[in-house]
Amino acid sequence: MKYGNRVGVIAAAAVVSAVAVAQTATPAKSAADAKVAIEARQEHFKTIKKTFEPLGAMLKPLSNGGKELDTAVVATNATRLQELAQAIPAKFTVDTRQFKDIKTDARDAIWASAADFKAKADAMASAAVNAASVARSGDVGATKKAIADMGKTCGACHDNFKAKAN
Ligand code: HEC
Repeated sequence: MKYGNRVGVIAAAAVVSAVAVAQTATPAKSAADAKVAIEARQEHFKTIKKTFEPLGAMLKPLSNGGKELDTAVVATNATRLQELAQAIPAKFTVDTRQFKDIKTDARDAIWASAADFKAKADAMASAAVNAASVARSGDVGATKKAIADMGKTCGACHDNFKAKAN
């Protein structure tokens, strides 16, 4: 278990340095362009949700719709979530701030504080690397904690950069 965690920390550090350069954004040229970009990034988050959901279910009691912990599924999905997290900033290279009529929960701060936004995506990628690594170690308790920690990185970004769902 200790070994697994250490590998996770090293791998997480490698992810962060591999994606250290922030993307530059250009304004959407038209409402149509903005719509395409907005729909593409929302699709990306739907994929993230679908990939994370089975792991979130493993934290719930079985009596309440929860699922048995399956470390192989955690390792596979967390690895995919790492890739999806790293791809988030590139989904925002079209700056859609000027097009307020198109429905989006993206807040202006994404482009005003691009480095912070990228740091939140990096945090999710690191948490995903850690979850995959801990899952491979087979430690059930540590795997559950790693899933929960990854879930917190969704909320940490949403708190600053996503409009509250209502
Ligand atoms: C780096 C920031 C960031 C991270 C990390 C992040 N999100 Fe989001 N998420 C956003 C933003 C911004 C939007 C709004 C996009 C829009 O409406 O244009 C969003 C939208 C969503 C949506 C709504 C998609 C739709 O149907 O329009 C879901 C679901 C979602 N995120 C789930 C997650 C989950 C689950 C995680 C973690 C595993 C996560 N997000 C991590 C920033 C983030």
